[in-house]
Amino acid sequence: MSEPAPPVTYLFSDIEGSTRLWESEPERMRPALARHDAIASAAVLRNRGTIVKMTGDGVHAAFDSPLDALISVLELQQELAASDGSGGIGLKVRCGLHSGADERRRGDFFGPAVNRAARIMSAAHGGQILLSQAVAEGVCESLPAGVTLRDLGAVRLRDLSTPERVYQVLHPQLRAEFPALRSLEATPNNLAQQLNSFIGRERELDEVRALLAANRLVTLLGMGGLGKSRLSVQLAAEVMDDYPDGVWLVELAPLSDPQLVAQAVASVLGVKEDAGRPVLDALIKFVRDRQLLIVLDNCEHLVRACAEFAKQILQAGPRVKVLASSRDYLRVAGERAYQVPTLPAPDPGRSAALDVLSQVESVRLFVDRATASQPSFRLTARNAPAVADICFRLDGIPLALELAAARARAIPVDAIAARLGDRFRLLVSGDQTVLPRQQTLRALIDWSYDLLGDRERTLFQRLAVFAGGWTLEAAEAVGAGDDLKQHEVLDLLAQLVEKSLVIMDSDSTRYRMLDTVQHYAREKLDEAESATPARDEHLSFYLALAELARPELAGPEQGVWLGRLDLERENLLAAHAWSDDADYRVDSSLRLVFALRPYWIHRGMFALGHRLTLESLDRAGAERRDLLRCQALHIAGQLSNFMGRHEEALGYLNDSLSIATEIQNKARIAAVQQPLGIACLGLGDVARARSHLEEAVRLARELGNKRQLIAAINELAQLHRAEGDPAAAEPLYQTVVALARELGDRQSIAIGLLNLAMVSIERGSAGAPRKMLLEVLAIAEETGSMPAGQSALDVCAGLAALEGQWERAARFYGAAEAQIDRTRMRRDPADQAFLSPLIEKARIALDEAAFAAAQTSGRGLPHEGLLAEARGWLSGER
Ligand SMILES: Nc1ncnc2c1ncn2[C@@H]1O[C@H](COP(=O)(O)OP(=O)(O)O)[C@@H](O)[C@H]1O
Ligand SMILES: [Mg+2]
Repeated sequence: MSEPAPPVTYLFSDIEGSTRLWESEPERMRPALARHDAIASAAVLRNRGTIVKMTGDGVHAAFDSPLDALISVLELQQELAASDGSGGIGLKVRCGLHSGADERRRGDFFGPAVNRAARIMSAAHGGQILLSQAVAEGVCESLPAGVTLRDLGAVRLRDLSTPERVYQVLHPQLRAEFPALRSLEATPNNLAQQLNSFIGRERELDEVRALLAANRLVTLLGMGGLGKSRLSVQLAAEVMDDYPDGVWLVELAPLSDPQLVAQAVASVLGVKEDAGRPVLDALIKFVRDRQLLIVLDNCEHLVRACAEFAKQILQAGPRVKVLASSRDYLRVAGERAYQVPTLPAPDPGRSAALDVLSQVESVRLFVDRATASQPSFRLTARNAPAVADICFRLDGIPLALELAAARARAIPVDAIAARLGDRFRLLVSGDQTVLPRQQTLRALIDWSYDLLGDRERTLFQRLAVFAGGWTLEAAEAVGAGDDLKQHEVLDLLAQLVEKSLVIMDSDSTRYRMLDTVQHYAREKLDEAESATPARDEHLSFYLALAELARPELAGPEQGVWLGRLDLERENLLAAHAWSDDADYRVDSSLRLVFALRPYWIHRGMFALGHRLTLESLDRAGAERRDLLRCQALHIAGQLSNFMGRHEEALGYLNDSLSIATEIQNKARIAAVQQPLGIACLGLGDVARARSHLEEAVRLARELGNKRQLIAAINELAQLHRAEGDPAAAEPLYQTVVALARELGDRQSIAIGLLNLAMVSIERGSAGAPRKMLLEVLAIAEETGSMPAGQSALDVCAGLAALEGQWERAARFYGAAEAQIDRTRMRRDPADQAFLSPLIEKARIALDEAAFAAAQTSGRGLPHEGLLAEARGWLSGER
């Protein structure tokens, strides 16, 4: 083996906004560019660099010494600045330097280090010089006079690879302060770091970028394993600058239900449904004035739903674009399809020179992945024919190449080539030399599967029950069975990762399979006897998780648990789906919907929770009138209430109540009274509402259930207020506050105080509310409670209006409205009834323009700032 060549330092530079300058000032641009080119090439050559390419608006060069490279960019910047004074246009040039392996062939340079240098440059602003860690280390001992380095920290570059530590070059003659780097974080997005490098596809990226620039829906087409998803994510990262409201990847592979496409997108964008309306409506409102890119990945099994969704979203949001990947067209007007090609493969039977072969994209992918599997792997003259043969046989299909390369650790490439040769010879017929692509991939996955040991195979099959990935703990629970011990799972899982059949995410906490591989594993699972036990284990694992989460969702760790359930949402839905397969799972099914209730409510996914609950209630075996059905009916009623469907709610809740009575379960009888009261109130039956709420209070007292008591009393007080009887409401709110103080329930203290403050203000009293609001603000700050902060601003607006401070009222009102837009938490009707007349007064007292101006000033400020302002105002500081 030859010694590796010493590293090379790569320089990339380009002129900021050159396209714009060419358009606006072509006459002055021509000489300016000529001068730039002369300065740049002289600076490179003078410092012993090699010019690889003049790119038209910059230079790409290579240096043996990082210090030479640094001096050359310094000179470039200084001379450009100097020539500026002589009447030219001020060209601003950004530069990036990175050192890495020398992969020089025929006068050109290749490899990941070159790409990385280009990425570092693209993170810079005009006038800025950035160095990678490797370059910084190479020059730090011998920095030129006047030069220092500023550590900008680890930066996620827009190639989705591992973050790079980046340094800015400081020099008295260079501008020092710049906006934040154009890193991956600079635009909102959810693109994950990729574990391995992206290979080639320059032409495809250019072509799809151009298509996306001119169209609003672009679909990447092709069979599974071709690299559609990877290409779409890579492109999304590169075009980020065009979408100030972000670039969002929505992974549809784990979804089995076409009804959930809109919900999946809404969750990624953080949009919540407005109670009682389809989540699509909220999305349509959300995208109206936003400029964003939605990447719908793996649409094939939900093509019609995706098409319908894309149509509606594109109609609603004129500046929204969709990049889809699918095996089939979406068939939507305006769709532009792009057939993703396979990676170029070497010609069969023609032995190419090593340096030519090593540049063929399929070979690059194979070599990269083989090296990951076996670090000493190199492409050599000896193994090149075998590698070329493999890449040719696998027809440049990325997934097939990865699976074959993953074996390089245990099987020499000659043997891989020979075995594949045998296998494929049996499959091709007549004068065919290669199989149809579908079959090629299938044959390769078969091959990969056949090479697994028995126990690996068993685990691989069982893992197919997961949806949307899994944790190690879940794999241990679901993967183990009579023949496979729990403690063996970790090793076997690691084997599957090594063989590329399973992928470990970049933070090493979750595992998943590519959709193509997962389909295959599902087939095998369905053929095997272990399908039922695996589904049973899956259901019981996620039921246990949901039941563990239920109390936590009401506790201080709420955020953590919501996040945990978010990650497992597809698994929870899959568990729910399994529960339909067999009668004996019906109890689990009802328990699951009961346990998940707080999750749907916190996440505002009423429609989904409602649907699942009804599905569980409809299952064969679920008609038994027992506690589980009683609880599930309660949930169905509550969710119906949230959705404003009170008639329907009343039906479920009454049914729940009669079961509770039949089985003489007092706790359930007590619990159902409050939602019954809400349903009756919603239907305008105040008398029945009152009697349910009074019953709720009585029973909660009797059972000593303080939490229920607080909820019941608060609701009863709301009823009095809605009836225009604040005098009856006031003592009840006081009780709410007192009870909440006993329990240390900060959230309920805040709710009680806010209600009390509103009642006082309505009665015209301004003193007491100030104190109450100050306490609410303190709680909001301490618990980070959004609803408390938002309502506090509302009540402050009302209080200011009461005191005739019209402008301040309008300002707080504007701030509260802005917060409602952000959180989508609407006002309670009682709160709205409190606020509206007071705000109306302010609107009349100020003229329309002054009101609008004050309102806008409140809207524009950050929420925390306004809370601080409210605090100051309430305590009399201003
Ligand atoms: N250009 C590429 N560079 C590196 N890896 C790639 C490339 N294209 C595809 N892959 C890898 O090949 C596998 C299959 O690609 P994927 O995008 O999932 O295919 P598809 O979406 O068409 O089914 C993935 O592991 C992916 O990371
Ligand atoms: Mg895909």
